[in-house]
Amino acid sequence: MKLKQHLSMLVVAAGSLLALPAVADQALATAKNCMACHAVDRKLVGPAYKDVAKKYAADKGAADALATKIQKGGSGVWGAVPMPANPQVSEAEAKKLAAWVLSQK
Ligand code: HEC
Repeated sequence: MKLKQHLSMLVVAAGSLLALPAVADQALATAKNCMACHAVDRKLVGPAYKDVAKKYAADKGAADALATKIQKGGSGVWGAVPMPANPQVSEAEAKKLAAWVLSQK
């Protein structure tokens, strides 16, 4: 009986985690300092993530290209200001962040 209660609590906890992936990834973006230069819906130093998602909506290779750019930095797509490299971001985190940015519509 005790074990069963425990299990159902685990299921509930897992379910609420699954329901909040967007929030979790915004937390990652905040933790990795991305939100110092970006916002979801307006331009700061870098482009709004919504604008990035719109630009690459039809581009199937965008997630990989953006993940690389998030780690290494780059310039010339949105203006003269470059994005510096983000060495604090692992490859797996960069992929997660790229997918999250592309899901902002
Ligand atoms: C110091 C400011 C700064 C920080 C910190 C920063 N960015 Fe950027 N970001 C920029 C600028 C400026 C651009 C536009 C670069 C360009 O025009 O090519 C950009 C562009 C982008 C793009 C679009 C790239 C493209 O080629 O279209 C994505 C996606 C992005 N940033 C995600 C992130 C993520 C995720 C982080 C956190 C790990 C982050 N940025 C941290 C300034 C920043």
